[in-house]
Amino acid sequence: MIKWLDNAIFYQVYPQSFNDTNADGIGDLQGIIEKLDYIKELGCNAIWLNPCFLSPFGDAGYDVQDFYSVAPRYGTNEDLKQLFDEVHKRDMHILLDLVAGHTSIEHNWFKEAQKAGKNKYTNRYVWTDSVWWSLPENMNYIRGISDRDGCCAVNFFSFQPALNYGFYNVTEPWQHSCNSPEAKEMREELKNIMRFWLGMGCDGFRVDMAASLVKNDPESKGTIALWQNIREFLEKEFPDAVMISEWGEPDKALLGGFHMDFILPNEFMHSNDLFRCDEPFFSSRGKGDVSEFANKYIETYKKAGKEGLICIPSGNHDSDRLSKRLSGDELKIVFAFLLSMPGVPFIYYGDEIGMRYLENTGSIEGGFFRTGSRSPMQWDGGTNAGFSSAPQEKLYIKLDDDINRPTVEKQLADEKSLLNEIKKLIKVRLSEKALQSRGDIKFVYAEKNKYPLAYIRSNGDDKILIVINPSKRKVKFECNYSIGETIYNFGKAVICENSQLTVMEQSAGFYRII
Ligand code: NOJ
Repeated sequence: MIKWLDNAIFYQVYPQSFNDTNADGIGDLQGIIEKLDYIKELGCNAIWLNPCFLSPFGDAGYDVQDFYSVAPRYGTNEDLKQLFDEVHKRDMHILLDLVAGHTSIEHNWFKEAQKAGKNKYTNRYVWTDSVWWSLPENMNYIRGISDRDGCCAVNFFSFQPALNYGFYNVTEPWQHSCNSPEAKEMREELKNIMRFWLGMGCDGFRVDMAASLVKNDPESKGTIALWQNIREFLEKEFPDAVMISEWGEPDKALLGGFHMDFILPNEFMHSNDLFRCDEPFFSSRGKGDVSEFANKYIETYKKAGKEGLICIPSGNHDSDRLSKRLSGDELKIVFAFLLSMPGVPFIYYGDEIGMRYLENTGSIEGGFFRTGSRSPMQWDGGTNAGFSSAPQEKLYIKLDDDINRPTVEKQLADEKSLLNEIKKLIKVRLSEKALQSRGDIKFVYAEKNKYPLAYIRSNGDDKILIVINPSKRKVKFECNYSIGETIYNFGKAVICENSQLTVMEQSAGFYRII
């Protein structure tokens, strides 16, 4: 088990939108270095950095052109090394984004693979052996763009060809098995990429589309085996390295050797019921439902076992910002929840000040609807909200133009701001082991269409009751625990009478159980 994950709290930095120090209208690595103290003072002790590698940026850098070079717009490999060092000086950790499943069509491997004649890269991607044959299992593909006679599978957008880690069930002559020399060669190349950055000082990776690697793998058995092999390599060469997957099925990802898996905003885990549906549980209208999320969470938590960590992010570069549907005190109550759940919390840049989701931005760098969650960080009242000193029209993406837009500067000065509430919550989490990554959880009250939500976090005999009522109504529930010290409180505190707890409107409280 990796010790530093026990109390890790991540901050996600989307590099192009964070802080621009060379006035080109795009954030850069020196800009992140400049803001490390801010991240540390917020209380976060780890960073996930979105892709920062050479890329044509058709998908914001998830279309990698060279896995071994930093994109010049962000700086150099030396700057990235400096970022690692500065992070470590502050006793923090940093994960890079590993786009393991595909590259850009601009990658040299793909340019070589498109040639009609055989070469070293002919089998690096998933190609059929005839341009007239489409791919099975509804795989998307491109064809006819070069002299090679074949269709090439794509993982996401049409310019992101799928790397060849083999097929679990081989059904066609052009498919390679997971243990074929071709698939093994790709796996070894992936290790080389990891070795390169880990050797330079990064602490691990967030793995993009981690479930997508092996094809025709309905139960993910081949993909799980592949990641187990990667984990073995890490255990041998970089035992302190950490991997978190974008998988969304923690039981499978953790079996594959990932230390953590994200709960993704999807139907499967019911996480949208909380913050991203018409009537989210965290809305003060109080018409939401938390029960299905709680059931699914506990089921997955049990399957994940003691070692695996399930992470619920506040948001990310692919989802609507929380503030699209929630605001004011609702957001503070969301963070009381996120920062008192097991696993490792991830705060998406700007969510700590309630940055808005911007409607009608158009699509920048393949963002489409996601562009609204990727606008420049709002630091202060200066030029371009302190993000960049470039002329406004040079910003690669539009800034929130609301004159009342939140900024870090304003919120630091306001004792009652979301930012200060989050700082307080992080301090509480960091001071109570029961609230941290590996403290146990048991739901006490999570009923269909009812409020509040109550659960116990525990570490041995140390037990903390969390009671969360986002709704505007006072609610009651049966609770057979004796409540002691209040560890954290937002809104009015609960009243306990004859084993009935009265929970005040729009409140969140953490109470020690005696
Ligand atoms: C998931 C990433 O988070 C997303 O931004 C990207 O577009 C796809 N994977 C493709 O890499």
